[in-house]
Amino acid sequence: MKVELIDLKKRYLDEKEDLLSCFDRVLKNGSLVLTNEVNNFEDNICKYTNSKFCLGLNSGTDALMMALWSLGISKGDEVITSPLSFVASVGSIVHVGAKPVFVDVKNDLNINENLIESAITKKTKAIMPVHWSGKICNMDKILEIANKYDIKVIEDSAQGMGSYYKKKHAGTFGEISAFSAHPLKNLNAVGDAGFVVTDNEELYKSIKLYRTHGMESRDNVKIFGINSRLDSLNAEILSYRLTRLEEIIEKRRKNISLYKKYIKTNKVILPQDSPNGYDSYVMMISLCEERDKLQSFLETKGIQSLVYYGTPLHLHKASSILGYNEGDLMNAEKLSKKVLSFPHHQYLKEDEIKYVSDSINQFYE
Ligand SMILES: Cc1ncc(COP(=O)(O)O)c(C=O)c1O
Repeated sequence: MKVELIDLKKRYLDEKEDLLSCFDRVLKNGSLVLTNEVNNFEDNICKYTNSKFCLGLNSGTDALMMALWSLGISKGDEVITSPLSFVASVGSIVHVGAKPVFVDVKNDLNINENLIESAITKKTKAIMPVHWSGKICNMDKILEIANKYDIKVIEDSAQGMGSYYKKKHAGTFGEISAFSAHPLKNLNAVGDAGFVVTDNEELYKSIKLYRTHGMESRDNVKIFGINSRLDSLNAEILSYRLTRLEEIIEKRRKNISLYKKYIKTNKVILPQDSPNGYDSYVMMISLCEERDKLQSFLETKGIQSLVYYGTPLHLHKASSILGYNEGDLMNAEKLSKKVLSFPHHQYLKEDEIKYVSDSINQFYE
C-alpha cells in the first residue's frame, strides 16, 4: 500500500466543481486585485475569529513582517520567539532589523512560557509565540508577562487557523497576529496567501496602506510600501474553504485518535490534546525513538513521512549572526532529533492509518 503524507490532488477532485465556480465568478468580473472578494474574505475571517480587523496579504511571512513593521519594531529592538518553528518566524524579525531572542520549548513543542521572563531585557519590544502545529501556546502566562513589562505580543498563528485556547480563537490574544494560507495549511489557498488580524485600528490602517505601495489613491502615495495583496481568486477560494474548515479539522482530529488506537509502542509519543484548548492539528508531529531509521523503514513500506524540522532555528547557518551555539537550547535540540510527521490529511482512510500504525509497531518489535 502507498500512503501519502498530504493529498492536495484528492482535495482538488473533491472540490473541483466549487473551485471552478469560484474561478468563474471572479474572472468574469474582469477585476482581480482588491475587489469585493477580498473584502468579503476579510469580513469572513473577522467573524470566524471574532476579530475587529483583517487584511489579506501575499503570505504568512509578509503578515509577520507587516505585523512587526506596524508596531515600529526595528534596529536595536529584541523580539522573543521559539527555536522550533518555520524559518519565517525568525526571518521576519531579522528583516525588520530587529534581533530574535530564542527561548527554549516544552515537550509540546511550544515556547516554554516559564523561561520567557528571564530573556527580557531593556531592548525587548515584543514576544512572538508560535502556535506550532495548531496548538496554542500558554497565552494566559504570556499575556501576563507582556503586560508586566509593557511589551507587545505578536502571535505567529500561521498554523493556528481553527485552533482555540479557552474558547478564544488563535490570533486574538496579542496586539496583532499573522496567519498563513499556504497550500499545506488547513485553510489553504491555491498558491501563497496570508493575512493579519487585529483589534487595533491604527495597525490595521497602516498595514492597509503599506500592502499596496502606501498609495491612498493613484495620485497620493503617503508612504513607500510594498505590494503584498491577497488576490481576488484566492480570496474567493479561501471564503469557500472557510465554510469547510471545521469539517476538515474534525477529520484530522479523528486521524489522531485512530493513530492512538492502533499504535501500540511507547517508542512513539503522539501529540496530546491541549487541556485548555482545541487543536486544529494542521500537522501531526510525533516524537519517535530512532527517528531516522523509522523513517527509512516506513519508506520501504510505501509510507511517506516528513521531519518538521531537523534543525532548530538557532543552529541554521543563517543564524550564525545571532551568536547561538549547540547546547544553548537543549530541549529544542533534543526534540528536533525525534520529530516525525506521519500521513495526516482529511482523505486518509482508517485502513491506511491502520497500515501505517502496524508498520510503526512492526519497526519497534
Ligand atoms: C509557523 C509559521 N510561521 C510562518 C510561516 C510562513 O507562512 P507562509 O509560508 O505563508 O509565508 C509558516 C508557514 O509555513 C509557518 O508554519
